[in-house]
Parts: sequence; C-alpha cells; structure tokens
Amino acid sequence: MKTVHGEENWLSWMDDISENDYVVVDQFLPQDLYEKVRSFFLSKLNSFTEAGIGANADNQINTKVRGDFTYWLDRKRDTELEPFWFLVDEIVHMFNRYCYLSLSGYEFHLAHYPSGGHYDKHLDQFEHRNNRMISVIMYLNENWLPGDGGELEIFEKDGSSFLVEPLAARCVMFKSATVPHAVLEAHKSRFSLTGWLLYQPSALGKFFG
Ligand code: OGA
Ligand code: MN
Repeated sequence: MKTVHGEENWLSWMDDISENDYVVVDQFLPQDLYEKVRSFFLSKLNSFTEAGIGANADNQINTKVRGDFTYWLDRKRDTELEPFWFLVDEIVHMFNRYCYLSLSGYEFHLAHYPSGGHYDKHLDQFEHRNNRMISVIMYLNENWLPGDGGELEIFEKDGSSFLVEPLAARCVMFKSATVPHAVLEAHKSRFSLTGWLLYQPSALGKFFG
C-alpha cells in the first residue's frame, strides 16, 4: 500500500490517540490534495443544507445547538476526490492495524459554519446509533487569524479543555464516544471536511444532512 504518510508518523499518532483519545496533526493534507478538496468544497457551496442533530427520526434542526451547513460526500459520485478517498483508506487501515479496531465503513461531509455559527459541547455518538468510532476533521481555512473564532474546544478527561485553531490542512482525530468537544462561534466563514470511521458500514440507517 502506497501511503501519504510514513509508518513512523502513523505509529506516533496512533500512540497519541491511544494515550489521550485525540491527536492533532498539522500539514496532514499535502498541498495538492488540500487544493483539490478546497476547490471541490467551494464548487459545492450552493448545495449545502442546514445540519441537524441526532440520527434518523431524531434528526432535528436546532441552530441554538449547531449552526453549520453540510454536504454529504459519496465516494461513488464524488470521484474528483479520489486521492482523498485513498487517504481515507489509509486512515482506516492504520487504525485497524495499530489500534486494533474493526472499522469497516465511514461517512464524511463538508461543513460550512457561516459567521456566527457554532456547535455546543457534544459527543459524536448518538443515543440510538453508536457505530461512530473515530471522528476525523480536516480544516480548509486559509489565513485564519487569532480573533477569527471558530476554534475546536476539546475537553480532557479531567474536565479541563484546550482550543485548536481550524488551520488549513490541519487534521484532528479523536475517539467519538469519549471526547466531548465544541466549536466556538466563528467570526467568518469556517470550512472543514469532517467524517467518522464506523464500526459497521453506514447501511444501518438513512442519513441526515
Ligand atoms: C462535528 C464537530 C468539529 C469541528 O461536526 O460533529 O464537532 O471542528 N465538528 O468542525
Ligand atoms: Mn462533533
């Protein structure tokens, strides 16, 4: 398997996630892939829909809790993103290999938080659907400055928290069931590509978007 990132990098990231339940990796998206994903994102901006909370029947739109707009990706349809899908294969492979997970599916969406958007503290597993194992977020924001808001707040096991700026090409991965997190109010449009690695394929239910 030809990989984007070397074995040593993967080993140290998997060590981090095993120990802390999260890892933050800068320059995770190589420049050419970053540009491809970002231009795809911009080309779809008119097709985003307001995001809901909760799975399936529970799905409801509540902008008090979350204020982003999403566009669900489909590997068969979105073939322009092929190098990105290969990177997803690599991520799944590495988690299975080094964290002994039995991941067999994934779901990804583009997310746009317009200025003023945020997402309250939450976990990425739903009450009625707990097959999201690992959350993966890649940021697509150029020239993001302190004061632009939109930081990801990650809560540690001891209740303390720290902020991660949504910087271009940065990737955050964490265990979906155990890491509470929030998105602070963005003061300008905030772009990301967010997904979940699943214990079972996503045929489980109809998705919301
Ligand atoms: C989510 C989420 C965080 C981020 O979509 O569930 O928590 O930094 N996103 O975009
Ligand atoms: Mn989340």
